[in-house]
Amino acid sequence: MKNTKIQVSLKQELDSSYTISIGESISCEIASFVSQVNPSSLAIITDSNLVSSAESLANEFEKEEINTSLISFPAGESSKTLATLESVLEQMLSHKLDRKSCVVAFGGGVTGDLAGFAASVFMRGISVVQVPTSLLAMVDSSVGGKTGVDFKQGKNLAGSFLQPKAVFADVSYLKTLPYSEIKNGLAESVKHAVMFDSSLFSMIRNNSSQFNLFDANIFSELVEKNCIIKSALVEKDEFENSNRVLLNYGHTVGHAIESLTGYSKVSHGEAVAIGMAVEGRIAVEKGFFSEADLNLQNSLLKSLDFSLKLPKISRTSLVESMKSDKKSTGGNIKIVFPEKIGKYSPESLSNSSIVSEKEILSALQVF
Ligand code: GLY
Repeated sequence: MKNTKIQVSLKQELDSSYTISIGESISCEIASFVSQVNPSSLAIITDSNLVSSAESLANEFEKEEINTSLISFPAGESSKTLATLESVLEQMLSHKLDRKSCVVAFGGGVTGDLAGFAASVFMRGISVVQVPTSLLAMVDSSVGGKTGVDFKQGKNLAGSFLQPKAVFADVSYLKTLPYSEIKNGLAESVKHAVMFDSSLFSMIRNNSSQFNLFDANIFSELVEKNCIIKSALVEKDEFENSNRVLLNYGHTVGHAIESLTGYSKVSHGEAVAIGMAVEGRIAVEKGFFSEADLNLQNSLLKSLDFSLKLPKISRTSLVESMKSDKKSTGGNIKIVFPEKIGKYSPESLSNSSIVSEKEILSALQVF
């Protein structure tokens, strides 16, 4: 038989644009948006802490005659696993969701990542609307379509990209959030500020004592500034082939800390803050970032109540864990870093982003 080649042409032009709505008491807009999407049914996926708020949202959907079910899982980063994903998918099947159903991811970063992942694989993919209720999810994880679950080897090591149909960041949900949770979002905001926007850096510094008191205007401004930065990067590099990687400042070390401490002892914000202090130090030692700017960064983090103290973990296991980071290839650990406050170093996108074990251990000496 003669050999044959058949070309499968798959050039696609997809418009997956969406709107991020930010403000106070805007959750009333969600039901009317979803009714325009016209799903066959809807599942609100949330965690055990948010069930009663999710029920209020479900009532809004029912008023629009959208057949709505509620799916919940135990709150906390330790739920971000394949086992929870399986249980959520089972519940979606038992609620008879189909290929025209829609998921509303209602909660913080864990919920957005888990519910987004569930939507992306359920019957090979259905729509998701992100309704972040934590500052972390509002300023970062609800935007950009990353979904995933953690493994003991590392964070977010399995996942997918699924851009939401819309994001509704209603800052009223932050009213009852403890400051320890607000800090998770502040760490990501400082990351955005240090890498991309000195005016955001000043805004955070000017309001650093205000974030433990709820002020809708301050939080709306903070969320807006962060979403502008993040969406600009995602628009240019949806699948993280180039500049989107810059959003990982502080995360190579941060994720290793979280994974080595079992995803429960150190919050994501604390881990990323320590990560920025360590990675900023590496950038100074490599000659790409100044000591003065590193001090400005660390002073801001301390004024927001981050300790910047490395938890009791062995430094060599930290380095080993960094090798499991998604950015590592062929065993090479990569970090991205700033050049000055408000500007990333272009060297982050070159081979200079590869750091040796010696460079990491040397930077860790001051921790
Ligand atoms: N949180 C980093 C990203 O979405 O790319």
